[in-house]
Amino acid sequence: MVRYLQLAYIGLQIYALEVKNKVNLGWHNEIKMKKKPIYVTQPYLPDLNLFYPYLEAIWKSKNITNGGVFHQKLEASLCEYLGVQHVSLFCNGTIALMVALQALGISGEVITSPYSFVATTNSLLWNGITPVFCDIDPISMNIDPFKIEKAVTNKTSAILPVHCYGTPCNVEEIQKIAENHGLKVIYDAAHAFGVEFKGQSLLNYGDLSVLSFHATKVFNTFEGGAIISHSLEMKKRIDQLKNFGFVDELTVVESGINGKMSEVNAAFGLLQLKSMQEVASQRKMVSDFYNFNLEGINGIELPAGNYSSASNHSYYPIIVKSLFPVGRDKLYELLQEQSIFSRRYFHPLISDFPMYKNLSSSTPKNLPVAKQISDQVLCLPIYPGLENKDLQRIIDVIKKASLL
Ligand SMILES: Cc1ncc(COP(=O)(O)O)c(C=O)c1O
Repeated sequence: MVRYLQLAYIGLQIYALEVKNKVNLGWHNEIKMKKKPIYVTQPYLPDLNLFYPYLEAIWKSKNITNGGVFHQKLEASLCEYLGVQHVSLFCNGTIALMVALQALGISGEVITSPYSFVATTNSLLWNGITPVFCDIDPISMNIDPFKIEKAVTNKTSAILPVHCYGTPCNVEEIQKIAENHGLKVIYDAAHAFGVEFKGQSLLNYGDLSVLSFHATKVFNTFEGGAIISHSLEMKKRIDQLKNFGFVDELTVVESGINGKMSEVNAAFGLLQLKSMQEVASQRKMVSDFYNFNLEGINGIELPAGNYSSASNHSYYPIIVKSLFPVGRDKLYELLQEQSIFSRRYFHPLISDFPMYKNLSSSTPKNLPVAKQISDQVLCLPIYPGLENKDLQRIIDVIKKASLL
């Protein structure tokens, strides 16, 4: 009887473990994991032992937020690492975008790209600003500067372009248009950590640039973000806005928000910075592997930006052209059947989401290039530590599909 109960107990434990695993797999739980799963990205995490001394220092000081020592050190280190004048750290990139718009007093209409993560445009709506979508360039997949002017009205106050996948926008042309029409330029540079353009940081272009340090990004602080500004006066204004609008202990001068980064996140960022060279070279190796093995497959277009020496290899977007024997969604499924989780970034277009789809600039007629790319793009897994044997599994699926 005891033996019988023991067996029943073990059976229950196995069942509980299976249920737990299913829950942990989230939206992949319907897919039977036959092989080791390969996700589109994985955060870079240094050896945990290296993080303990930082935590011990935080515990000892009892200073866990509000611009502590690690926060100050990370701002200074990022200025040096990125080659920029001023960094204001944030709890995430979305709040940083919202504050950047406030800091420049943007209102009315803002011209932006529909081909991005939804946070880009949501930051406008949270500020009561009307987004005006402009089509993208087919090569860079960034806002097409030659279509911006057509979208300018007497209500336009700024342009919010995105350096999508870390590929630089046509910053010089955008600057000219902004000057001609008296517009501000805020770059959503969430993907562009460490990217250079013409020998200097890409983040030095525009009035402000906004970074994301989310777990999926090239440089992460678990969650986090930053605004890059070019004058001390602007940095002070941004820092005030992210701290409720306080200027001193008793004085609040405007309706700011809480956008502060904690000491734990800042300390982690300092540790992460030490590995950035290694991270960059491992990402490049993955990118090179794809470039070498996918080159010449009929109907698969490789990312133009990833050949550039200045790329940060944050994403590996391929375009599945109509020439390829199966469509993008079928290829996505074929990969998924082999436990390979690519992502359709950026599909759907932001302009197709319910809160934006009724805007006149959201009409597909206005966004033909963005629509086509959004229907054909597939981001393949890329992260430091992705092994060649796993990459080969991805290549094999694509090559097999090319023969269907
Ligand atoms: C282009 C873009 N903008 C903004 C964000 C928002 O950043 P966060 O997740 O740090 O709020 C992200 C990603 O997360 C993004 O990819």
